[in-house]
Amino acid sequence: MSNAPRSSPAAGAAPVATAKKALEYVSDGMTLGLGTGRAAFAFVRALGERVAAGLDVKGVPTSEATAELARELGIPLLTLEEAGRIDVCFDGADEVDPELDVIKGYGGAHVREKIVAASSDRLVIMVGAEKIVPVLGSRGKLPVEVLPFGEALCRQSLRALGCEPEVRCGDDGAPVISDNGNKILDCKIAPIENASELERAILAIPGVLGTGLFIGMADAVIVQDGEDVEVRERP
Ligand code: A5P
Repeated sequence: MSNAPRSSPAAGAAPVATAKKALEYVSDGMTLGLGTGRAAFAFVRALGERVAAGLDVKGVPTSEATAELARELGIPLLTLEEAGRIDVCFDGADEVDPELDVIKGYGGAHVREKIVAASSDRLVIMVGAEKIVPVLGSRGKLPVEVLPFGEALCRQSLRALGCEPEVRCGDDGAPVISDNGNKILDCKIAPIENASELERAILAIPGVLGTGLFIGMADAVIVQDGEDVEVRERP
């Protein structure tokens, strides 16, 4: 991904406590989905220490940045094709609601993240308490990845759905290009009344490749609030 500093492994402080807790879901022989963003990178670093100590796992990265970090740490990687099925996927999120539905993609990796999560038996999300919201959309942004050829139609159609799109740009003012070679439209949104309905409507727009909505996908959310770490599990 270019111009996407939030997806850089160096960005921000590492949420170490959620990463340590997440390691409890890992056992020898597993294939793991490796997410993107600060929380996911902290998990990859903690996993790298275990691998160096002899843990036998393989990872499927959700971005080029994650792949690079995992390689540096000596974590063996597989493509999705090679992995077939993944045991557990670990990732961060930008919003989590009381049903454990999630918005992701502020780091721009949500299309690959959703593919890897959907290929996994379990999805474990790691967040700080500031990401917990009463209703999805509370932070006012929904990232949508679009094929550059279809950008004009996507913008028009998103606007008609009440989502005001803005092309994501990097610090140099140039559009951010995802690892998939596409643009990201950050849609200004209000708290969402029916997230599944909105997801269906957005995905029906030709040129849309994916939204940051992860509905019914997370099995567990690890929340760090100061010194406290709480695990919320889907019943
Ligand atoms: C990447 O596109 C995102 O989905 C991230 O997983 C999400 O934005 C959370 O990132 P942080 O852990 O950096 O807040």
